Amino acid sequence: MRQSDWDKVIEAATGPAAEYLHSLPDRPVYRPADPRDIRALLGGALPAEGTDPVEVVAALARDLDPYVTAHASGRYFAFVIGGLHPAAYGAELLATTWDQNAGLYAVAPGVAIAEEVAADWSLELLDLPSEASVGFVTGGQMANFTCLAAARNHVLGEAGWAVEADGLQGAPKVHVIVKTERHTTIQRALRYLGLGDATAVEVPSDDQSRIEPEALERTLEELEGPTIVCVESGNVNTGSFDPFPEVADAADRHRRRGNPTWVHVDGAVGLWARASADHQHLTEGLERLDSWSTDAHKLLNVTYDSGIAICKHRAAHRAAMSVHASYLMHDPGHARDQMDWNPEFSRRARGLAVYATLRSLGRAGVAEVVDRTCSLARRFAEQLTASGEVEVLNDVVFNQVLVRWLSPDGDHDAFNDHVIAAIQADGTAFFSGTTWNGMRLMRISVSDWATDENDVDRAVAALLRCAA
Ligand SMILES: Cc1ncc(COP(=O)(O)O)c(C=O)c1O
Repeated sequence: MRQSDWDKVIEAATGPAAEYLHSLPDRPVYRPADPRDIRALLGGALPAEGTDPVEVVAALARDLDPYVTAHASGRYFAFVIGGLHPAAYGAELLATTWDQNAGLYAVAPGVAIAEEVAADWSLELLDLPSEASVGFVTGGQMANFTCLAAARNHVLGEAGWAVEADGLQGAPKVHVIVKTERHTTIQRALRYLGLGDATAVEVPSDDQSRIEPEALERTLEELEGPTIVCVESGNVNTGSFDPFPEVADAADRHRRRGNPTWVHVDGAVGLWARASADHQHLTEGLERLDSWSTDAHKLLNVTYDSGIAICKHRAAHRAAMSVHASYLMHDPGHARDQMDWNPEFSRRARGLAVYATLRSLGRAGVAEVVDRTCSLARRFAEQLTASGEVEVLNDVVFNQVLVRWLSPDGDHDAFNDHVIAAIQADGTAFFSGTTWNGMRLMRISVSDWATDENDVDRAVAALLRCAA
């Protein structure tokens, strides 16, 4: 490609990008689509001959625009999906432009140090031990995987088994303890790690999906040997936080009985509570545990995809992830090689957007995003409850609300699915459903830094219209 053509490609992408961003307040959040229509635009036989890149980019921008879900509109409340912080957006443009292979300091030193600083800032902001190690991964799933790989290394290492060298065949059994309401990515990480999904011991959760500490204690008392316990900071349905001081005490007692023990916290939704003076109390005691995973693409509003794996035990983290080869250029120790802390080999400079967002928001800005999203979640709960049309089933302690639409004919499950389908088709706002304690419910997750009171009020009005 000739040097002068870059301007046209940039124009072809950034012109529609700016239009898209300006359209966010008014465009439908979502349009139901027929996959055949999208295939008709994009598919067909592999082109035999090439097309000018400018034309390809312009066609993509034009053809896919109607099928883009406006996650960053301020009115997307499904799953737990953060919006788009401008600093993250700009940094991602740079990361893509520079196209760095961010696996080793020597290969791409600038972004390696940006990630090093982002790692230090994350620990400071989240009030986690400064000696902890950090990996910037694709999301909560891979953060759980990375932390649990370190956990596996640590507990088996203490039992005299080198799992990276010798694998799991013939290894001492690792007891894994989860609660009934753990996130599904914990199960998937256990599968990836050969620890098994169905073999994990389930401890009951309470009516807010928090682990029951007495049941955890009883379970631990019956087990001997290497043990990994998985708890949660911010449940995907209720937003609740596990009782970390009790969990940490139970783990300490288990350790004192001679059992190698590691407690992992899945903090995809709620680890950022630690950045807020008003919400930090929810995570009290969590710093006593061994590893923490979180998402930057949720409450921090970094671009997709971005997660963070943090381990108190650096050696276990490094042993589980590090890889060396004679043709690589490993740093002798004065900078951080990302491939020592990440499951990937080649990788994009994912932490650059985390760096930019933390620098732009600062400590006060992150706290403000956490506090505002949580306060808007309460606004949803108050307005919907006042309408008399719903019951709010969770204690709204964080940014999640669980809503039960009350049907005049008594078939609440069907009515909930009906209201969700209607609001999705309406396009004013987007919500999704869940099954919780045997009931079909609507979930509300306020995770976009751009959401304001007006967005909530518009969304509530649209919901009540759909329900009517
Ligand atoms: C508690 C929890 N853990 C893990 C995840 C998975 O995160 P990701 O989608 O970033 O992999 C989620 C996603 O919502 C979550 O809520």
